[in-house]
Parts: sequence; structure tokens; C-alpha cells
Amino acid sequence: MSNISEINKRKTFAIISHPDAGKTTLTEKLLLYSGAIQIAGAVKSNKIKKTAASDFLEIEKQRGISVATSVLSFSYKDHKVNLLDTPGHKDFAEDTYRTLTAVDSVILVIDCVKGVEEQTEKLMQVCRMRNTPVIIFINKLDREGKNPIELLDELESKLSIRVRPLTYPLGMGYQFRGVYNIYKNSFAFYKPNKSKVEEDISIFNGLNDKGLDEKFGGDAQKLRHDVELIDGIYEKFSTEEYLKGNLAPVFFGSAVNNFGIRELLDTFIEIAPGPIEREATNGTVKPADKNFSGFVFKIHSNLDPKHRDRIAFLRVCSGKFERNKFYHHVRLDRQLKFANPASFMAQSKSLLEEAFPGDVIGLYDSGIFNIGDTLTEGESFMFKGIPRFSPEVFRIVRNTDPFKSKQLEKGIQYLTDEGLAQLFVQNFGNKKVVGVVGELQFDVLKYRLLHEYGASVEFSPMASYKAFWLKYNNKSDIDELTKLRFNSLYNDKNDNLVFIAESEFSLKMAMEKNPKVKFLSSIEHNDQTLLMENVA
Ligand code: G4P
Repeated sequence: MSNISEINKRKTFAIISHPDAGKTTLTEKLLLYSGAIQIAGAVKSNKIKKTAASDFLEIEKQRGISVATSVLSFSYKDHKVNLLDTPGHKDFAEDTYRTLTAVDSVILVIDCVKGVEEQTEKLMQVCRMRNTPVIIFINKLDREGKNPIELLDELESKLSIRVRPLTYPLGMGYQFRGVYNIYKNSFAFYKPNKSKVEEDISIFNGLNDKGLDEKFGGDAQKLRHDVELIDGIYEKFSTEEYLKGNLAPVFFGSAVNNFGIRELLDTFIEIAPGPIEREATNGTVKPADKNFSGFVFKIHSNLDPKHRDRIAFLRVCSGKFERNKFYHHVRLDRQLKFANPASFMAQSKSLLEEAFPGDVIGLYDSGIFNIGDTLTEGESFMFKGIPRFSPEVFRIVRNTDPFKSKQLEKGIQYLTDEGLAQLFVQNFGNKKVVGVVGELQFDVLKYRLLHEYGASVEFSPMASYKAFWLKYNNKSDIDELTKLRFNSLYNDKNDNLVFIAESEFSLKMAMEKNPKVKFLSSIEHNDQTLLMENVA
């Protein structure tokens, strides 16, 4: 039986932004619009914020940043929308990059006061690598921000993507009157309301409609001028170009005031891609392929402090997943069945009987999954393209409570399985080094080791620049490294050989002295080829 009608209903996406641009607010508003939550009156009050659907971790609440990626599903206009929330903070960028491998499109939120920020650029680079279709939401129009044309220019120049505004604002900040929908010739009047959705929309018969003058007086001319200017500068919107990742439609609004969300969501439902095909080691896997397949893009332990369990998040790529049916864990070459797979609807987790391409399911994991693992109905391929980047900050792990060394071992093992950090063990010694993207991850590690595993740890600094995975054909290729630079050689969790350079200079020297070795700053999760080739 074909799953086509189920596949066509799915839209799986992520919201990305620089911290504070309004990602969490927009997430909550989308849930509100879809009816998945009813928190009228208090979406942004601290009480609600602290129990927000997307806030899974205790530490998130304390720090007020979204650390873990959570999955939220809701129904809208006969579609099943899967929203993968991502941490905005740059120190958790890797989690976000991994999540982007599991979505089919993204909504990018920009703060109109700040414009394109550092993290926006980095996230977009990842989207560009995969040609992920992007819709842009320019937020906080209730504030005095940059000129809209300037913002559009900035988007094009800094994000290397062509843009096409589908709505255009009249005024900003105190003077903000609303947005004109260029394609529908309608105007949505700005009615700030934090607690509920209030809509006041007028439809006009094109820009020459006299009704515009009646409604806007002197501002009607400005509106006409602006919209004509936009039509003159920007190419016509093409869904095809959007789907190829070349052209981003742009919307203006104010998330906290419930303004501009409906147009964004309606357009998203209309144009965003459904489940897309994915590259695997045996070729392309299509959603409509008969056999089930999927990959793990995230692992999270102790989501619920009462149950201390570990969940692997799996993106279904083809076929149909069914509860209690045996599936093939390709890396371990084992048959497994899952009695309690979970689905995530808005705030709650529930038992799932079946899932289709585009869905994200939670599998209770006793430690058998790694990020990047593939499940199939028997075939032996692996999904490609789940990146693992070289960390940038390294610290030596020191146990500060000798009676808790087992707990520390387990905690480090589990938390590095999640990809929160990478563990490297010195090749000719037993020094354990943890590498992360940003300093904040050490705080999270320390906090979680103590609260979830009862282990206390110190992280002491070490001279380090970057880690590189080593690729070579012959053991003799690494002679110089093993004899003279053994202190800098480590093994990662997959037993790949890694060189942690002390400085840029030491890296340069190591590269010069070992010309046959390739120094890789990123590899794919579970890339067994590196290991196999090196051993050969
Ligand atoms: P993030 O997830 O991208 O980090 O951003 P988040 O939604 O937490 O929003 C960051 C701040 O921006 C919040 O204020 C939020 O209320 C505010 N905000 C979101 N949308 C709009 C908007 O359309 N207009 C204006 N003026 N502000 C907006 P906060 O003071 O940090 O939090 P809170 O006390 O309001 O909860």
C-alpha cells in the first residue's frame, strides 16, 4: 500500500535565528495559531516561558537559552507539521547543524533592529550547503528598526541568497500601521495584542484602488511608491526557485504581538517542501520507497528527570515505521523492535503506532544508538551527510570525587554520545580530553554530570588549537607522528586517530613532516570508511 497521501501531509522544518531575534516567541505563536496550545494572555509571561513546550532542560530555564533541540508536532490545514526547535546560542551550534540535516526547510527569524547577525550567517551557511529552502521572517516591526529596503539588501549580501518580499510594512516602531500583501493586494492592520489573535484585514483592488486613500490618507502614496519600488527591484516570486534554495520569500511582522504569523504560516503550508529524498551509501532514498528507513540525528538522556531514560530521535526517510516490528540496526548488524516509540505533540509525548516520512520519532535507547545510525527493513546502507566538526575548545577531564569515578565514566560516555561534546582519549596514555564548540558547553556538562549522574568534575585548560582526524593509507605514513608527536595523538569514540594541535604552528609543522597524511577538520558521523581505510 502506498503512503503517498500521508507523505504529502508532512512538512518538517526548523526555525533558526541569532539568539533573541524571536525564535522561541515565533514557535509558541505557531503553536497558538494552529490550536496546539491555548495560552491566551500569557505566551511570554515568565510562568509560561518557564514551562514552554520547547524548554526541555532545567538548565535552559536557568539560563534562559534554548539548549536542547526539541520536537513539536501540530496539525494545520490538514497537514502534519513537525517543528524541530534548535538552540540559538552559538555554543550549541553543532546541535543545530545536526538538526538541520533532519528537516526539509527552515524559517529564518531576523530582528529588524539588529539585521543579519553573526549566528544568522553561520546557520545560513549550513542551509546553503544543503540547498535547504528558506523563508525569512523579519520580526519586531513594533520597534524602530533598520529601513526595510536596507534590511533586504543586507539579507542578500550577507546571506548569499536572493530574496523576494511577499509582504511590505507601512511604517515601523510607533508609526507601524501594518503590512501590505503584495500578491493578495490586502492590508493587515497592526493591532498589537500579546495574548490573542486579532485580525483586521482590508482587501483592495490593486494599488490604484481609491480605498487606499480613504484608509491611509497621505500614507497611501508612500505605500504605492514602496510596493512599486519592490516590484521593480525584485524578481517575481517563483516557488521552484524557493524549493531549490535559491530564492527566499520574506515576511514582516511582530511575533510577540501575534502579527504577521498567519500569513507566514499559510504561505509555509502552501509552498514548503514535503519530505525530500536523501543521500545514502547505496544511492538516493525516496520517501515513497516501500521499505522503511530512517536515521538518528539526536540523542538526549534524562529528558524527564523522573525516568532517567535516553531517547534517540530518528527522522523517518522512507516507508512506514511500525511499533513492535523488527528493524535492522545497520551499524550493529542487529534486528531490533521498539515497544514504546514516542511521538511529540506540542507539549506532550505519546505512544506511537506508526510513522511516515518526515516524522520524527523518539526511541528509548539503552545505549545502542550513535548519532548518524541508520535503521532499515533489512538493507545495509547508511544515510550520509551528518557532519561532525572539529571542536574549538579543549579541556582535560579531572574527577574531583574518587568515589564517583564510575558515574563520571558513564556520564561522560552518555553526554558525548549525545554530541554535547566530543571525547578524546590520549593514544599513549590515559588522558581524557573533552572538546566542545563553545565554553558554555562545559557549564552544561558540569551541571548535567552532577545533577544527572552525581559526578563532580573539573575541566582544566590545555594548550590546544584544533583537532584533526587523520586519514592515511599506510601505518608507515604516520611514523613521524607516532614517534615524535605522540603526546598530541588521541582516539575519538569510534577509535579514529585524531591529532590535537597545540597551536597553528604545531599544526603547520605536523602537516609539513607528514605529507602523506590528510588532516580533516570535519568528518561524517559514523564514517566507518576513515577507520577502515586507515587500518588497511
Ligand atoms: P530567541 O528564542 O530567538 O532567543 O528569542 P525569544 O523568542 O526568547 O525573544 C527574545 C526577546 O524578544 C523576548 O524579550 C521577546 O519577548 C522579544 N520579542 C519577540 N518578538 C518580539 C516582537 O515582535 N517585538 C518586540 N518588541 N519584542 C519581541 P525578553 O525581554 O528577552 O523576554 P520576555 O521577558 O519578553 O519573555
